Amino acid sequence: MSVSRREFLKAVGGSAAGVGISGAVVSPASAAAPAVDVGRTTLPFKPKVIARAGQLQPNTPVSFTYPDASSPCAVIKMGAPVPGGVGPDHDIVAYSTLCTHMGCPVAYDKAARTFRCPCHFSIFDPERSGQMASGQATENLPMVQLEYAADGSVKAVGVEGLIYGRQANLL
Ligand code: FES
Repeated sequence: MSVSRREFLKAVGGSAAGVGISGAVVSPASAAAPAVDVGRTTLPFKPKVIARAGQLQPNTPVSFTYPDASSPCAVIKMGAPVPGGVGPDHDIVAYSTLCTHMGCPVAYDKAARTFRCPCHFSIFDPERSGQMASGQATENLPMVQLEYAADGSVKAVGVEGLIYGRQANLL
């Protein structure tokens, strides 16, 4: 079957226009797709009561483990509202205390109000969601997600960020 030049161009032009229209239709749909935050790892774990809000002293960390015995953490009442803080004053936060650089245990510096790693001197800010302030680490301290109940209990319910040495915060 022979196709004239005119018929061929008409057919190709129609296809090209179809692609163009199709592209125009697809773009808005893809723009409306839900955003996926690929930079975070947040996994829920079995809830565990880790403290009583009324027993926490300001600027004084209390150790606990979560989600298992090999994952040391600290809960701390900062004394003023902070991002992610729970409790009556929205000032209670908790973090993994394994440095995200090479897993050394970090220590709380009451004067500076920061977690400091003794191995390579990374510093993390508990008043800014565990943000890495300086040092060798490239990731923030994993933040333990907390829930506060009317009876004053503070529960750990998940971890945001990858606990050092784990591939997916899996047990
Ligand atoms: S292990 Fe903490 S800075 Fe290297």
